[in-house]
Amino acid sequence: MNVLLLGGTGGIGKLALQRLLEQGHTVTAMVRHTTDLPVHEQLERVQTTLLDCSETWLEERLGKVDAVISCLGHRPTFSGLFGNPRRLVHDSLNRVLRVLARQPRRPVKIILLGSSGCVNSLRKERLPAPDRLVLTLIRHLVPPHADSEQAAELLASQRRHNPFLEWVVVRPDSLINAENASPYEARVSPVRSPIFNSGESSRINVAHFMVALLSDASLWAQWRHEMPVLYNTSPVADSSN
Ligand SMILES: NC(=O)c1ccc[n+]([C@@H]2O[C@H](COP(=O)([O-])OP(=O)(O)OC[C@H]3O[C@@H](n4cnc5c(N)ncnc54)[C@H](OP(=O)(O)O)[C@@H]3O)[C@@H](O)[C@H]2O)c1
Repeated sequence: MNVLLLGGTGGIGKLALQRLLEQGHTVTAMVRHTTDLPVHEQLERVQTTLLDCSETWLEERLGKVDAVISCLGHRPTFSGLFGNPRRLVHDSLNRVLRVLARQPRRPVKIILLGSSGCVNSLRKERLPAPDRLVLTLIRHLVPPHADSEQAAELLASQRRHNPFLEWVVVRPDSLINAENASPYEARVSPVRSPIFNSGESSRINVAHFMVALLSDASLWAQWRHEMPVLYNTSPVADSSN
């Protein structure tokens, strides 16, 4: 597939890029610094961001892609968490959707990195009251959480507005690093408290699941228009946050 990857220099994004290339996909990676990316014949490295690139370039590029994967996230620095763009994930996704809406309808898959703390309104999810209380505080104090929530909600609303668009929001629980992929499960909704009893999700498992959604048509059919929550099912040997 021809894939546009956002956030390909991040913890999950790097692993998704590696997996995409291993599985023979053709990738355009939009990043702030192309020097952070490998060189590969199936990879086009583009030094710009979704929020900065020209409309003409984006229209031309989105006219060719089969899928867009967003692994964007706010860097855990003061400026990453509290500086601009405050709605990095939402606004990048929104721009993609606006351009796609102007183009002739054709199947494009969108895979968005979310979080177990974002509820799936389509399934009328409701977290336990203590979680909701803490998440309300986080929403007001830490802008990236609201950004993730709004991005997931934007995709959920596309189901009503644009029935041709297919998407999956992948929701990890607490992210950890691991050298190798390990067994994990995908659940339709959180089965643990994301705040008080969160499980672990290896970045490599998250990346592999995102790419498997593109490579495996039956997996896509299973999760299309859903927000799977990923949990490692066995402890990983070499993990660090
Ligand atoms: N922490 C958790 O336990 C947890 C749990 C569930 C979900 N999550 C979600 O997962 C994300 C973390 O994933 P990760 O570890 O893969 O993230 P990460 O390593 O921080 O990667 C973030 C990516 O976003 C890019 N980015 C950041 N700010 C940007 C900007 N202003 N313009 C363009 N690109 C920008 C970064 O590019 P540069 O390389 O240029 O900085 C990088 O590619 C979190 O943000 C959260 O949404 C986290």
